[in-house]
Amino acid sequence: MFKKNILVTGGAGFIGSHLVRLLVNKYPEYKIINMDVLTYAGNLANLKDVEDKPNYEFVKCDICDFEKVQKIFIDYQIEGVIHLAAESHVDRSIKDPFSFAQTNVMGTLSLLQAAKFAWGGNFEDKLFYHVSTDEVYGALGEDGFFTEETSYDPHSPYSASKASSDHFVRAFQDTFGLPTVISNCSNNYGSFQFPEKLIPLFINNICNNKPLPVYGKGENVRDWLYVEDHARAIDVIFHKGKIGDTYNIGGFNEWKNIDLIKVMIKTVDRLLGREEGTSEKLITYVTDRAGHDLRYAIDSTKLKVELGWEPSLQFEEGIEETVKWYLENKEWMDNITSGDYQEYYKEMYKAK
Ligand code: NAD
Ligand code: DAU
Repeated sequence: MFKKNILVTGGAGFIGSHLVRLLVNKYPEYKIINMDVLTYAGNLANLKDVEDKPNYEFVKCDICDFEKVQKIFIDYQIEGVIHLAAESHVDRSIKDPFSFAQTNVMGTLSLLQAAKFAWGGNFEDKLFYHVSTDEVYGALGEDGFFTEETSYDPHSPYSASKASSDHFVRAFQDTFGLPTVISNCSNNYGSFQFPEKLIPLFINNICNNKPLPVYGKGENVRDWLYVEDHARAIDVIFHKGKIGDTYNIGGFNEWKNIDLIKVMIKTVDRLLGREEGTSEKLITYVTDRAGHDLRYAIDSTKLKVELGWEPSLQFEEGIEETVKWYLENKEWMDNITSGDYQEYYKEMYKAK
């Protein structure tokens, strides 16, 4: 008998797998149910080290399948939800916005309804935690930060779908009293990230001497946070966050894309024993992403002051660990980049 049954959605993805690992190891008294439909981004190999633990269970389910989701809430007596399942890549949302509205909006609504029905108005010790993104706030100019009070101003179909899901979560809190909490996080990096996102894609391309497609002039700025620090923040907010509140999560760690790319080149070349700067020739400026947000930067003061969370890792250390991980886990990368990935890559970068 477990003290609490927690449903994590999207637990086979990048951030979800780090969160599941943290919760399974840290809380043997909790049962962690990982609900994931295993899209191209879901990979059970990300969870090999915890799959046999007695407090972990994987359930294959589409969050949009309302009947099945409802049954899972009842069968597993779910008391807490940490919702990460989503379509997460901006470039894909530009090509196929429908699937983003379906998964991110309708899927979130399906989970909210299931929680509301299953909990039947008895919300004691229940929590619906929605994991969102800083992209809902739009884009910043040269200075300033996103705070929890910043107005929503999404620009991509991805961020519009996440903003919409955030609104539904707040609507369920306000209308039905469903206990909810939301966090909005900046760009994550670390192990097990699908190589469609900047950091793993570029590490892989540098290793394979392939062109590095830099969008526009490479001047866009992102605020990078080590994925394990994001998982720690979610843990803290889940246990200590104020019901109905929003928390911004970020590392105060801004990088212009081109500068970050040069750090990756330097690190990979060094670790592969290549002469310094060898791979700079791979940098290829390509057509910019449509609607490309110039700059994101999170002010996470509230999380620090109210709940005591701070990033644990300096970026230099985090990026070194991350590059090493991808170099040492070539088989993981090869499994992912064979088959469908080749088609994706050709299609996504053909016009650039
Ligand atoms: P990811 O793409 O790596 O993983 C998404 C997971 O969700 C996959 O395992 C996939 O199989 C699953 N999934 C997708 N559709 C599903 C469906 N219909 N039913 C069940 N499972 C489904 O994503 P990620 O980068 O780990 O992001 C996780 C969450 O965190 C997302 O909600 C994203 O918006 C948010 N987020 C991501 C970042 C980032 O930098 N990656 C930053 C802030 C917030
Ligand atoms: O800010 C949080 C968001 O960060 C999350 O909500 C998203 O799920 C996550 O994908 C990420 O979005 P970005 O669009 O910022 O991440 P991405 O890795 O796709 O791109 C980072 C930057 O690098 C961005 O400015 C675009 C640029 N880029 C990206 C790719 C894939 C390139 O220049 N070339 C590329 O090939």
